[in-house]
Amino acid sequence: MLWIKDAHLVDPARGISGRGSLLVKAGRIHKVVVGEELTAATVLTLLDGSDLAEVTQVDGTGKYLFPGLVDVHVHLREPGQEEKEEIRTGARAAVRGGFTSILAMANTQPVIDTRALVEFVRLQGERAGKARVYPVGAVTKGMAGKEITEMVDLKAGGAVAFSDDGKGIQSAETFRLALEYAKLTGCPVISHCEDASLAGAGVMRMGEHSARLGLKGIPATAESVMVARDALLAGATGGRLHIAHVSTKESVQVIRMAKAAGVDITAEVNPHHLIFTDEDVPLTNTSYKVNPPLPGRADQEALLEGLLDGTIDLLATDHAPHTWEEKAQPFPEAPFGINGLETALAAVWQELVAKGKLTPEKLVELWAVNPARRFGLAGGTLAEGAPADLVLFDPEWRELVTVDNRESKAHNTPFLGRELQGFPVMVWVGGKLVMKDRKVLD
Ligand code: DOR
Ligand code: ZN
Repeated sequence: MLWIKDAHLVDPARGISGRGSLLVKAGRIHKVVVGEELTAATVLTLLDGSDLAEVTQVDGTGKYLFPGLVDVHVHLREPGQEEKEEIRTGARAAVRGGFTSILAMANTQPVIDTRALVEFVRLQGERAGKARVYPVGAVTKGMAGKEITEMVDLKAGGAVAFSDDGKGIQSAETFRLALEYAKLTGCPVISHCEDASLAGAGVMRMGEHSARLGLKGIPATAESVMVARDALLAGATGGRLHIAHVSTKESVQVIRMAKAAGVDITAEVNPHHLIFTDEDVPLTNTSYKVNPPLPGRADQEALLEGLLDGTIDLLATDHAPHTWEEKAQPFPEAPFGINGLETALAAVWQELVAKGKLTPEKLVELWAVNPARRFGLAGGTLAEGAPADLVLFDPEWRELVTVDNRESKAHNTPFLGRELQGFPVMVWVGGKLVMKDRKVLD
């Protein structure tokens, strides 16, 4: 049994934001009391306990207590590219970053396109015993963009969504079929919107800055035309669509229109697109190379506006670990991707919440409540009876991001060598303490 006291509890799903206590029993949230101090005697009565020695007490003074964050966009690289990340290391990195549930993308080697592979990912996640790992099944076999996977089978194996993320599905007819088939599973299709003919061999956002650096550009339309196509197809089929990593102002406009028209569409934005722009891209640091590329300033403003007005539903990291060897190549050759799990929450806190652009309540809505709801996952709330997936967050905790104190196997983050402020300090999954004082517990 657990008694977390005097923390600032935040759960927008239940309209909670205030100082109070949370009690955990048998791995579940047993009682939430806000605006009132509990005595030990009351706690014992509430927990139906006889001895206070059975109750672990945690002092939350000066800290926030959030529902465990839910990250619907994570690349764990297993099977096939364990040199970049393993399910075990990714699940550890997740809890160190404040995420108690993660969705593992299907672009591994081999691609997660059979029930056996979905089950492998789920079981490896269970073995790791850290964040809950939910597999995403591929939309097309081998992510070749042609033949739809056995979605009903993949769902039976544990898939909670379908995606060829990492690649856009170029054929509109294939994507239409995917939305149609996915309806049989009730799961959303996550679309990586990228028209290959427009993106070409680009490596950063096309514009003045790409021209100055002499790097091939990716036009904003490479994303937005496919967002429009997919929104129209979702409308026509009645399928459930989720747009991954939105990065342009036109995409935000299209999603706003689609929502107004009643399309079943949600969208995410990644922290790096809210924090950096194409002007920040240095030729010599490929940790800034990501797909979709870092946006222009006007795009970034539209993304934040979209988050605030509900056009964009949630935050997700797009954690994309890559080895030093790969990222040490010249900018055009290095792979796309930013390592996000361990720095994303701190970065968003420092750059957006601490600067008054996002409230702590909105942060929890975007990163716990909404993602859990959209993908039908347990957690994401402090509701009594829910699994005790919890994050004690210290807004004062400062930490230098170095290669030595990380759980992820890879270190391709633009925050390397920088200090960030505002980190999770204790994390529970199903009532089990899995991270304490920034260290993952074995
Ligand atoms: O930057 C990216 N990296 N974007 C993607 O869509 C895929 C990801 C990866 O798998 O490395
Ligand atoms: Zn991705």
